[in-house]
Amino acid sequence: MNAKTMLLTDPISGRSVNLPVRDSTIGPAAVDVSGLYKEFGLFTYDPGFVATASCSSSITYIDGEAGILRYRGYPIEDLAAKASFLEVCYLLLYGELPTETVLTKFERSITHHGLINEALKNFFNGFHHNAHPMAMLIGVVGSLSAFYHDTLDLSTPEQRELAAHRVIAKLPTIAAAAYKHTRGEPFIYPRYDMRYVENFLHMMFATPCEQYRVSRLAEKAMNLLFILHADHEQNASTSTVRLAASSGANPYACIAAGITSLWGKAHGGANEEVLNMLEHIGSVEHIETYINKAKDKDDPFRLMGFGHRVYKHYDPRAKILREVCHRVLNELADTNNPLFELALRLEEIALQDEYFVERKLYPNVDFYSGIIYRALGIPVSMFTAMFAIARSVGWMTHWLEMMEDPEQRIGRPRQVYLGHTLRTYQPIGKRQ
Ligand code: ACO
Repeated sequence: MNAKTMLLTDPISGRSVNLPVRDSTIGPAAVDVSGLYKEFGLFTYDPGFVATASCSSSITYIDGEAGILRYRGYPIEDLAAKASFLEVCYLLLYGELPTETVLTKFERSITHHGLINEALKNFFNGFHHNAHPMAMLIGVVGSLSAFYHDTLDLSTPEQRELAAHRVIAKLPTIAAAAYKHTRGEPFIYPRYDMRYVENFLHMMFATPCEQYRVSRLAEKAMNLLFILHADHEQNASTSTVRLAASSGANPYACIAAGITSLWGKAHGGANEEVLNMLEHIGSVEHIETYINKAKDKDDPFRLMGFGHRVYKHYDPRAKILREVCHRVLNELADTNNPLFELALRLEEIALQDEYFVERKLYPNVDFYSGIIYRALGIPVSMFTAMFAIARSVGWMTHWLEMMEDPEQRIGRPRQVYLGHTLRTYQPIGKRQ
């Protein structure tokens, strides 16, 4: 029993109540307001969940003021520099870094779940050739539920684990197939002899006509990008997965819901928007116009890739990606990349502008990722699908954690009702 409490007094009745305070291992504690309605008949009001913890979690820690991000206690900088994406997947899912033997077994499981049912391939034929890859991803991932009826017993840990492995393994295959559909090219099957990221790039870019060798540079950069996007605690898409799952919905349907949320331009869809924005800006001389647009409250334009609900400091992922961007472009001998030059200058100007300084608006993870993806030959319409592949592990880890949480209940927020109080029904002939 937690001894810490916070005394709250209702100014109208003068009654007081001691609300329990839940400690965290690091970071802010939380006042447990779940008893407030019973005590006072009051709800709490927090649109956008700015100061609301929706659950307890042991997966990812963020200190937005200090620009810190850790998976299971490990700094993102260390993981980005030293780990493979599947190693990070294992860490997130199981809470510990794997030994070599354990990692090999895990890699084998993920690799062998990469294949999708042949019937699933037919779904793509129902999509128009210029359908957005994210639209196809939502539909096809949701339809996975229809293929695994026999292993959807959520009370069985083995079946839950199987679902997690399937989602992480099949997302790259489905995303690559969506891309191939837009190209009118045949799907390329996953290869059991390739590493996760290598396999994905092979499925994206190989054709049956000639041998395709995956570039090590692309594989390395993508591995790092996937690590940086793997989890980010209770962000919009992860919270969507949790809310969908809270009703007992199957994990494939919940992941489809998560992908839907990710697609929005305020969230994962921003990586595509950043590239479009940089292209619209076009050259350094136009930056000021766009900065002014972003500051103008009558203009809906926002500087894409800038700002974050949690980070009030440089997003640590963006810091890493800025360096990676330099490195990748250098290695590709693309040192005068005009979009990168533009992005650097835009960042410099924005970070000196009072509007951005006052509001603590810094580049976020999406600001530089698109430039790297583009340099590696990934089409802009696939950027958010890249994010979805990487985040699938975060979503599944949160889903697994939630399934074991004894406090988990159906998510059911309340509201402040502002509609009519009571009206009398009028027969149609008497209405004005
Ligand atoms: N450009 C211009 N002004 C901005 C921007 C921006 N990119 N972001 C925030 N602001 C301003 C707001 O207008 C607001 O100003 P005000 O106080 O004068 O009203 C203030 O900064 C606070 O912004 P909010 O919208 O209240 O912040 P919130 O936490 O709700 O939104 C968000 C965060 C959605 C990320 C926002 O910064 C944004 O729209 N950024 C651009 C889209 C983007 O890059 N999204 C990716 C986020 S990272 C991710 O999800 C992977």
